[in-house]
Amino acid sequence: MRAVVTGAAGFIGSHLTDRLLADGHQVVGVDSFSDYYSRTLKEHNLELAFHRPGFRFKELDLVYDDLRDALAGAEVVFHFAGRPGVRAGRRNQFENYMRDNVLATQRLLEGLKGSSIKRLVFAGSSSVYGEAEGVPTRESASPLPISLYGVTKLAAENLVHLYAHNHSLPVVSLRYFYVYGPRQRPDMAVARFMRAVTLGEDVEVYGDGQQTRDFTFVSDAVEATLRAATADVEGKVLNIGGGSQATLNTVLGLIGEMSGTEIRRTYTAAAPEDHTHGSASINLARRDLRWEPRVSLRDGLARQWSWLAEEASHRVSRSNLLTV
Ligand code: UGA
Repeated sequence: MRAVVTGAAGFIGSHLTDRLLADGHQVVGVDSFSDYYSRTLKEHNLELAFHRPGFRFKELDLVYDDLRDALAGAEVVFHFAGRPGVRAGRRNQFENYMRDNVLATQRLLEGLKGSSIKRLVFAGSSSVYGEAEGVPTRESASPLPISLYGVTKLAAENLVHLYAHNHSLPVVSLRYFYVYGPRQRPDMAVARFMRAVTLGEDVEVYGDGQQTRDFTFVSDAVEATLRAATADVEGKVLNIGGGSQATLNTVLGLIGEMSGTEIRRTYTAAAPEDHTHGSASINLARRDLRWEPRVSLRDGLARQWSWLAEEASHRVSRSNLLTV
């Protein structure tokens, strides 16, 4: 397939790009290298892709730049670009979230209107549920986000389905639950915890550490994403969860075991933007994508831990990888 991946230099986008290229597809990667985290890390995420013949890269801002060349001939568009960060949004950043999640999505959709793409896969977020009304949470639960990030991701998802309805765009939205693994964004909890342990620093836990997430290893997320490109799921919204619900304290225990370290923890105030429990009902994804998460939390964390150790010693300068 001829694929476009927006946010190709990001965490999930870069893994998806690598997988598409490894499977022999043509990929146009689009990224604006926004300031959310280090450009060096994002460029590093694309190192493998740049060595593949099927890859073209375009540094583009979806809001301001001309997208025609990037989108020309696309069969499948995977829309991963956006401004992440559940708690970062409190820092007077609403305009940035609106621009990067809502306006950018609308601009992309305008660019795709009337095109002959076969599928737009939208990268949604479990954060649209907020304090979900039921756990495990089904797609039919009322979304009630409690962060600016979640609000803007929900708006973007709604826009995607508006364009499906009004302009016949063949779309599907995937709501990913806590994706982790190698290249995880440096601001995310697992990445921060592992970095702190590596540096011999205290880990900072917001709240009592008893909040849960449904941990989804990145290769499982990518597999679901690829299936969503071709499966009979047009117009649907599907949860993608790894089936490994665990507390942060459990995760810290596992990281402690694999690092052979007694992790020093500082518990600080809980963040109001954080939901307490995350757990996905994945029956729809199982049925419609014929997909099943494969990687256990213990294995996934071990892979992220080994990756960090390897990268910190060899490839990216220690200061870059270990600094947010
Ligand atoms: C994550 C991603 O950051 C979002 O991009 C994604 O959309 C979302 O998952 C999702 O599931 O849809 P979040 O759960 O807030 O959002 O991820 P983290 O920032 O890694 O936080 C996870 C938990 O760890 C939160 O309860 C947070 O308060 C806590 N945390 C985070 C700490 O206790 N200490 C830290 O240093 C960082």
